[in-house]
Amino acid sequence: MPSGVSALQVSFIFLFLHFFISSSCLALVTGASSGIGKAITEKLAQQKINVVMVALDDKVLEDSFNELKGKYTSVEFRSCGADLSTHTFMDKVIEVTKDIDVNLVFNNAGFITTGFFHDVSLDRQALAFRSRLPPRSQPSSSFPLFTRSLKNYDCNATCSLRITHHFLNRMIAKKQKGLVTFTSSSAGFIACPLSTLYAATKCFLTTYAASLAPEVKEFGIDVLVVHPSPIQSRFLNNSGGMKVLESSGKVAAPPVVIADTLFASAGRCVVRDQVLLFFLFLCFSAALFLIFITTSRAGSALR
Ligand SMILES: NC(=O)c1ccc[n+]([C@@H]2O[C@H](COP(=O)([O-])OP(=O)(O)OC[C@H]3O[C@@H](n4cnc5c(N)ncnc54)[C@H](OP(=O)(O)O)[C@@H]3O)[C@@H](O)[C@H]2O)c1
Repeated sequence: MPSGVSALQVSFIFLFLHFFISSSCLALVTGASSGIGKAITEKLAQQKINVVMVALDDKVLEDSFNELKGKYTSVEFRSCGADLSTHTFMDKVIEVTKDIDVNLVFNNAGFITTGFFHDVSLDRQALAFRSRLPPRSQPSSSFPLFTRSLKNYDCNATCSLRITHHFLNRMIAKKQKGLVTFTSSSAGFIACPLSTLYAATKCFLTTYAASLAPEVKEFGIDVLVVHPSPIQSRFLNNSGGMKVLESSGKVAAPPVVIADTLFASAGRCVVRDQVLLFFLFLCFSAALFLIFITTSRAGSALR
């Protein structure tokens, strides 16, 4: 390899050749307003790929959309403000993309809910708000019910099914090559008390993506799932006081690491871990889990 040309640059060229020459690419990124999704959007823009940015219809999306539009003037950005935890969000996605062919789909939006599973209400209609961990010394019933388990489930897992199903069918019907990615998590491989639903949805995403990959390979569509370990983003703001999450921020990598990983791995593998950080995170989480089991109410119930 000539000096000065990094493996990453070669990977970008590979991605370019793989998709860009055969057809014009257009990408859709969920959770594009911040963190990993914003980093993916920016990487795509650097390759002059137009992007539909999907995220909650709020100021964060508006600011990121305006920022990227101002920075990459030759790229077309479309903003799609939609709550992916609702059952009607696809109407908005379909409306924004009806006149374009999307063949790069990044299922990335997601968030974590912390707290005891039984304390978190399943009320799908309730407004989302930050959960807080009840102190162990007090009975959980003395704390307000939290209202976002099913919203969390839909945003992290089921919205990806609807998005993927829709765009896969469009790609297949038009005989277009493409790429569908999922942002899962190393949390999907370990027991995660106090973020039960998060771990379960991420485990689901990985298995789903790995099973889907061979089904669509023959159509020239690649599937890739990535497992970030701690990443510096607004994600960690949802810790709800959970110390392990807050401390993970100290060893967190910048979001662009995951964008680079996705671009370097597309078409080459199906499941990609941030290996080193994953093992650190695994050890850290295992230690926390042991401490939790031995000191918590759950632990005393088991003994
Ligand atoms: N950060 C980590 O340590 C870490 C580790 C492993 C996996 N991950 C995964 O990486 C993905 C991206 O997270 P991040 O770290 O980049 O966090 P982030 O900075 O909080 O970004 C999350 C993105 O998802 C969007 N979003 C959240 N809820 C939504 C909803 N109901 N409907 C539509 N959009 C919604 C957010 O929109 P708004 O900005 O408008 O709220 C934001 O654009 C997530 O799936 C997360 O689980 C993160």
